[in-house]
Amino acid sequence: MKLRLTLILIAVLLAALVGAVIAQVAPSGDLEIFSWWAGGGEAAGLEALIAHFNEEYPDVNVVNSAVSGGSGVNARAVLATRMQAGDPPGTFQIHAGSALNDIWVAAEAMEPVTFIFEEQGWMETYPQGLLDLISRDGEVYAVPVNIHRSNVMWYVPTNLEEWGVTVPADWEEFLTVTCPALQEAGIVPLSVGTTWTQVHLWESVALAELGVEGYKGLWDGTTDWESEEVLGVFDTYGQILACTNEDRDAIDWQPASQMVIDGTAAFNIMGDWAAGLYLVDFELEPGVGFAWAASPGTDGAFIMLSDAFGLPNGAPNRDAVVAWLTLLGSAEGQDIFNPLKGSLPANTAANIEDAELYNAYFQDAYEDWTTNEIVGSLAHEAVGAGEFLNGFSELIAQFSTEPDSATAAAIAAELAAETLAVE
Ligand code: GAL
Repeated sequence: MKLRLTLILIAVLLAALVGAVIAQVAPSGDLEIFSWWAGGGEAAGLEALIAHFNEEYPDVNVVNSAVSGGSGVNARAVLATRMQAGDPPGTFQIHAGSALNDIWVAAEAMEPVTFIFEEQGWMETYPQGLLDLISRDGEVYAVPVNIHRSNVMWYVPTNLEEWGVTVPADWEEFLTVTCPALQEAGIVPLSVGTTWTQVHLWESVALAELGVEGYKGLWDGTTDWESEEVLGVFDTYGQILACTNEDRDAIDWQPASQMVIDGTAAFNIMGDWAAGLYLVDFELEPGVGFAWAASPGTDGAFIMLSDAFGLPNGAPNRDAVVAWLTLLGSAEGQDIFNPLKGSLPANTAANIEDAELYNAYFQDAYEDWTTNEIVGSLAHEAVGAGEFLNGFSELIAQFSTEPDSATAAAIAAELAAETLAVE
């Protein structure tokens, strides 16, 4: 009896001790999360994750400092200024691949997060190809929350039926059959938005025209930017631009994607955050209210990008950041975020096979992700981030008003020679 009492007492004391230790290490204070998911088809996933984090860590005050502007066009500039001034946020959104490695890891601005991957067993549950994109010299530098696909073409099946057009298999069909038929009917054949969405469109055209090896060669120096093939990409791209909305330079991706739903445009090429917009903001049924195909001529290939978050050196409230990154990379966190974002979970321990959580769009994208040939996105900084993308965006902006393939290819060639780290 006495022994039992003593044991119970010890257990109670131990529980109290553990409780005290947990209370002591549980993070508190402000946690600033910097991203470009500020609303309009972008914010729901992040907000759901923050709500979950707050339940788990009620003493942490999350400061959501999202800067609007698709693909981070504005956020990147704000971030660079803050980092230069020695004022990093707790954590910031960063694209896996070139943006992470060539910009922030190269600047020695990031603390490795390998310890989180090891503690959580993520070295085994993240795909090796993705681990390679977030690692340098044996250290992992960011936690990916998703996999997005860039080369997707969106449409509304009943609209196509009404207009008597079908999904074009390649750009030739689009330019010779689809575009003229739709223009005749007063419908914008393909909607597109401001410069970054044009770069986004360009990469789909480049993949279609150059094929997987040719496209990869743009980044490793084996495809000549002034070759006939690349000139052909710009020529085709110019003809495609002539099939797009005139106000393209004035709108971001959301209004361009919405044109398809409104029935003012037939097609839009955008990453699968558009699925997030259609599913969450417009509450459309996949396959009915909106449908998708690989962008023309890219069936079997998947232009990937991945949103990740990192731990900047000197991050305020490091403990809270580590707790946030741990949730973000977990199967649980990814299953909260991705069904709202339109993206696939990056962590293979997540429940992608749950078709109620991940609807028909995700199932289809997952099939492609696991069977297609994978290449990296330029518009979303998996390849060519920093100086190349900045210069290339300028030439694409110029091309929108004065399409001249030879000039564009020459500028791109010079940029590539000066800025791409070609071995
Ligand atoms: C991408 C980002 C996506 C989405 C998109 C539109 O760069 O990876 O998650 O936010 O921009 O803003």
